[in-house]
Amino acid sequence: MIVLGIETTCDETAASVVALQRDGRGHILSNEILSQIEEHAPYGGVVPEIAARAHVTALDGLISRAMARAQVSFKDLDGIAAAAGPGLVGGVIVGLTTGKTLSLVTDKPFLAVNHLEAHALSPRLTDGVDFPYLLLLASGGHSQLLAVRGVDDYVRLGTTIDDAIGEAFDKTAKMLGLPYPGGPSVEREAERGNPERFALPRPMLGRAGADFSLSGLKTAVRIEAERIAPLTNTDIADLCAGFQAAVTDVVVDRTRAALRLFRTSIGTPNALVVAGGVAANMTLRRALHRLASESGLTLVAPPLALCTDNGAMIAWAGIERLRLGLVDPLDTPPKPRWPLTAKLSGMPDSITPEDAA
Ligand code: KG4
Ligand code: ZN
Repeated sequence: MIVLGIETTCDETAASVVALQRDGRGHILSNEILSQIEEHAPYGGVVPEIAARAHVTALDGLISRAMARAQVSFKDLDGIAAAAGPGLVGGVIVGLTTGKTLSLVTDKPFLAVNHLEAHALSPRLTDGVDFPYLLLLASGGHSQLLAVRGVDDYVRLGTTIDDAIGEAFDKTAKMLGLPYPGGPSVEREAERGNPERFALPRPMLGRAGADFSLSGLKTAVRIEAERIAPLTNTDIADLCAGFQAAVTDVVVDRTRAALRLFRTSIGTPNALVVAGGVAANMTLRRALHRLASESGLTLVAPPLALCTDNGAMIAWAGIERLRLGLVDPLDTPPKPRWPLTAKLSGMPDSITPEDAA
C-alpha cells in the first residue's frame, strides 16, 4: 500500500510518499517540505494570507518532487491523503482541493486526515509503537495529552486552557526581543542563564485533571522584565532559563497526572510519546525521559523532522485509515476547527481554545 500525503494547515508546505511494508511498519519513500519561516519572520508570527499564497505557489512542485524522489507514478498509489484541518482555512483549502483533484483524476481513494490525528499516529510510523499510548502533543498551535487507543479512538486527558506550549515560547521570545520562531531562541539563551534567579510561577501544578495553563507564566516573565528594564544579555538569558524551567515543571507535572488518569481509566500505556515542534527542546526531553523511566515506560520521541509538521505523518495517517476502509467523500469540507476527541467524562470542565481548534 502506497499513499501520497499533503500538508498545508499552517506554515509548512509538505508532500510525502509512504509505503506500508509487509511487517506493518511504514517506509518513507520521500518527504518534501518547504518552510515559510522567512516569509513570516518579519511579522513575528504566521500571517494567514501569506501562508495561503505560499502554499499555492509551492505545492505543485513539492508534490512532483515527492513523486519523483519516491520513484512512483500516480497509478502506483493506493490513496491520496490531505490534511483537512484543523488549521488556517486558506492553507487547508489549498492542500485539500489539490488532494481531492488528484484523487478525482487518478480515481484513487481520498483520505481527509485530521492534522492532530497525524501527529498522534506518527510514533507508529517512526517507532512502531503499539496501542495504547500516552501522547504529549506540544507545538505552536496545539498542546494536548491524549490517550491514543486506536485509529479514530482518542481520549483527551488534558489540554492547555490558554496558550499552547510553543506559543508560550514564541510570545516570551517576542517580549524579550528574540527572533522568531521563539522556541529555539529561548532554548539557546537559556543555556547560559540561571534558572533560579527569578521566582516564576508554576501554574496548576498538582491540580486535579491534567490540564495546564501557561499565560500566567508568560505574564510573570513580562512583569519581571519590565521591573528590571533595560535588560542586559544576562537578564535575558536568566529570564529564558527561568521560563524554560517553569514550563518544563508544569508540563512534566501535567504529564504525570495524565499518566495516572490513563492508568485508572484506560489501562497500561505501552509508551510515553512526545511530538510537535516543542519536542525539540532538550531540557523538556530530558525531564520527560526521567518521568518515563520513573514510571517504567519508554519515552518515544520521533526524529525532529517528523515531530514538526510534515507530509509523511499525513500519508501514514492515510495508510492507517485506508487499511481500515475509512475513506472520505470528495465533498469533505475544510475544517479549520476539528477537535480530535471529546473530553474524558467526569473530568474537570474547562473551556479551551483547543476545544475549538
Ligand atoms: O509542530 P510545529 O513545527 O508547528 C506547529 O505549531 O504545528 O511547532 C512549532 C513550535 C513553535 O512554537 C516553536 O517555537 C516551537 O515549536 N519550538 C520549540 C523549539 N523548537 C521549536 N520550543 C521550545 N524549544 C525548542 N527548541
Ligand atoms: Zn502540527
